[in-house]
Amino acid sequence: MKEISCKLLVIGAGPGGYVCAIRAGQLGVDTVIVEAVKAGGTCLNIGCIPSKAVIHAADEYEKLAEMAAGKNPFGITVEKQAIDLAKTVAWKDRIVGRLNTGVAGLLKKAGVKMVAGWARFRDGKTVEVETETGLQVIRAETIVIATGAKPMELPFLPFGGAVISSTEALSLKELPKKLLVIGAGYIGLELGTAYAKLGSQVTVVEALPRILPQYDAELTRPVAKRLDALGIKVLVGAKARGLTREGDALMVETSDGKDERLAFDKILVTVGRRPAMEGWGLEELDLDKDGLFIRIDDQCRTSMRGVFAIGDVTGEPMLAHRAMAQGEMVAEIVAGHRRNWDKRSIPAVCFTDPEIVMAGLSPEEAKKTGRETRIGQFPFTANGRAMTLAGEEGFVRVVARADNNVVLGIQAVGKGVSELSAAFGLAIEMGSRLEDIAGSIHAHPTQSEAFQEAALKALGHALHI
Ligand code: NAI
Repeated sequence: MKEISCKLLVIGAGPGGYVCAIRAGQLGVDTVIVEAVKAGGTCLNIGCIPSKAVIHAADEYEKLAEMAAGKNPFGITVEKQAIDLAKTVAWKDRIVGRLNTGVAGLLKKAGVKMVAGWARFRDGKTVEVETETGLQVIRAETIVIATGAKPMELPFLPFGGAVISSTEALSLKELPKKLLVIGAGYIGLELGTAYAKLGSQVTVVEALPRILPQYDAELTRPVAKRLDALGIKVLVGAKARGLTREGDALMVETSDGKDERLAFDKILVTVGRRPAMEGWGLEELDLDKDGLFIRIDDQCRTSMRGVFAIGDVTGEPMLAHRAMAQGEMVAEIVAGHRRNWDKRSIPAVCFTDPEIVMAGLSPEEAKKTGRETRIGQFPFTANGRAMTLAGEEGFVRVVARADNNVVLGIQAVGKGVSELSAAFGLAIEMGSRLEDIAGSIHAHPTQSEAFQEAALKALGHALHI
């Protein structure tokens, strides 16, 4: 048995953990990071990155399919489209591989020691790791728990065989002819759309009355329209009940109380994720919980001295960029800097077709603060660049306080709007007023002009509408 000691030990090398370790290393903190699988965590290996690769490949394929069907305004004709899914998956794996190596390299460059294996707490200062070469004991002054989250399972439909999670859905070598998706949230719609574009017959079963229930209906309308155009059947207000006795169909209770049998080749269950709290010795610690999650304060400190927690294990929103920001902050705190969580917005992007971005408060949430608001919405139908991209569906919307025009929230739905999330986040973080956005020159012709115009609209003098 080997023993080492360090100032900072990070458990989990996902976006939260690896960023924390890199920053700590940069600041000269003697840091060790433990990871059982691969550097980069869920996001890089089986989440954000591979899903975006699959979504992009599906978009490219669908463009060709439309052209082959003579359905494009550009005058392009294509004989016949084809895809070799195994090659797509291999391309995706190469991207993941490059990023894995990249993260490992960054950790090394920052002087962080990486221990490969499964970590388990003995107590609040000691962790043991089962490595390939035996048990490694690590003693640390400070420990950061960054263990992430796992896909939620439906008790009557456990993962295995034809019932898959997003992990398996990102590595399918063959296209499922009939794909059932349970849950019309982020993952269900992002991957459901991709598979429909690749040629699967997709049905989505959502328990609540509408898709993407965390976004407002106006934002999700263009997405619902596109799902319909892609031939995706969406059953809202429907409850999956389990497989038939023969296991050949899924029984679903539809919104009108009727039972429907849905045949499938694969069932993708995407009903949310839960914090990864098992197997790493939580029971050896005395951590306060916040529902299912570990309770943290505004410095990501847990209820135990010297134990921090970051990322999905600490609650919503379970987004990689929140975890990264927490990781960076904790590293600086450990290095003696004065930091606390003072972010005004954590932008959320849904990579559906079209994409959705949300930063800050929605009109509904802003109203709940009790303040008068001013809202400006500008459609892409009036934006030249959107027209040239054949992407006129959607809009940008700005929500501001009526008394001083301080921007509270910005949302958009439209082709490629994920890249506008930076401008939205920056505007809110900088405490912008409508006049700041309206008064900044936005390059022409770009879709970002719709952002400026939405701010102008809220001020009552939009120019291009
Ligand atoms: P989600 O919370 O986004 O959506 C789950 C959906 O399943 C909800 O609409 C819910 O009403 C529905 N549902 C729950 N139980 C059900 C049942 N028994 N039958 C039918 N529908 C049911 O969860 P998802 O898509 O699994 O994603 C998990 C998390 O991963 C997200 O909350 C997000 O934090 C993260 N994520 C972020 C992405 C991004 O930033 N673009 C992409 C993918 C995931």
